[in-house]
Amino acid sequence: MTAIQNANAAAPQVRQVDGAEAPLLAVRDLRMWFPITSGLILERHVGDVRAVDGVSFDIRRGETLGLVGESGCGKSTTGRAILRLYSPTGGSVQFDGVELTTLEGELLRHMRRRMQMIFQDPYASLNPRMTVGGIVGEPLAVHGIGSRTERRERVAELLDVVGLNPNFLNRYPHEFSGGQRQRIGVARALAVNPELIIADEPISALDVSIQAQIINLLEKLQSEFKLTYLFIAHDLSVVRHVSDWIAVMYLGRIVELVGSRELYERPLHPYSVALLSAVPIPDPVVEGRRRRIILTGDVPSPANPPSGCHFHTRCWLRERLGNPERCIVEDPALRPLSSGHQVACHFAEEVDGSAEQVQVTGRSPGTGGVAASDGPGSAVRAAAGSTSAPAPATPTLPIGLPPRPHDRG
Ligand SMILES: Nc1ncnc2c1ncn2[C@@H]1O[C@H](COP(=O)(O)OP(=O)(O)OP(=O)(O)O)[C@@H](O)[C@H]1O
Ligand code: SF4
Ligand SMILES: [Mg+2]
Repeated sequence: MTAIQNANAAAPQVRQVDGAEAPLLAVRDLRMWFPITSGLILERHVGDVRAVDGVSFDIRRGETLGLVGESGCGKSTTGRAILRLYSPTGGSVQFDGVELTTLEGELLRHMRRRMQMIFQDPYASLNPRMTVGGIVGEPLAVHGIGSRTERRERVAELLDVVGLNPNFLNRYPHEFSGGQRQRIGVARALAVNPELIIADEPISALDVSIQAQIINLLEKLQSEFKLTYLFIAHDLSVVRHVSDWIAVMYLGRIVELVGSRELYERPLHPYSVALLSAVPIPDPVVEGRRRRIILTGDVPSPANPPSGCHFHTRCWLRERLGNPERCIVEDPALRPLSSGHQVACHFAEEVDGSAEQVQVTGRSPGTGGVAASDGPGSAVRAAAGSTSAPAPATPTLPIGLPPRPHDRG
């Protein structure tokens, strides 16, 4: 048995709460605000960039949650705040039942070993002056794992696991292609046998021909090492095949959270519908009927988000409904619908069966009909970003998570 397999064989068992499987990662009302200051000598706090503003979700061990949204909506900041690369402004992050937001020193270092990140840009994220051996072995050295020789052995083994020649140990990053560099990044993330990997747009800097290879590698590693992923991407076509659940993010908040296949077959937030309209369907007849929903205007600044529903300045549904005042004055809470979706829109029921939804999904009209639900059975329980429905003061671990969806597209 190899060193990696050995360490994973000793991985903790699935934790139970009240007899039900507890999530590996439970995020509640996570906020990450960056202060804006003014004045050269006396710095005054004049506002905040609300990069992440009340995000909640769970990820169960061995599953993948895809986090999707336009550039600047707060995806990377969410990942970094979870890993405590930033100190969150508020909220709770529990990893295997341990609260991370208040951990410091050795305890935090110990927990960090169980969570790693794969970065977007394999060119910028690898130190050009370090050899591959040094880069992949760095986390082992930082955590004081193994002797020098053992670490070299482990690095060679990791290179093999990610499909690189173990003899490349003494080479430098510039000697590799983009895809190979990302494999080095994956090997580095795997070095300390993490349980959770946050993959921040791991393929967006790669050629299309290479993207599928990295996705396949990540999926293979997931089943081999029982990894749990938070997979960040800015477009829905990428996350479809890797995610069990998808959370759609807009301006620091989650606006829809649902099983992967369900999102592609029946998006219920107007923003999700617009994102999905940009993803081609590989059927020329259906594709010929589709119409792209172009969102007008730029994404508003997270330093000065719109009132009420943050999406109201760009919402096609609001326009179609005659611009109801409610969208401007009332912040929609993420609410569960009978279909299992969690959606932050006052009028989500109007989306189901609408011409826009039918077009983007290629589905036949007249198969809609969802009702609001406050019962159990939400996809991954979540309640993101609502001033009208604040999260409980003491976040609790959800119990009775729904069955695993097994519905990757
Ligand atoms: N350290 C920081 N200080 C101030 N503002 C920040 C900081 N980091 C991020 N932001 C702002 O927070 C918002 C969210 O940024 P973030 O990088 O999380 O977005 P993203 O969804 O990952 O975007 P992309 O798809 O471009 O990577 C942006 O408006 C960004 O400018
Ligand atoms: S609440 Fe109003 S503005 Fe917001 S998504 Fe729904 S319809 Fe659009
Ligand atoms: Mg990012």
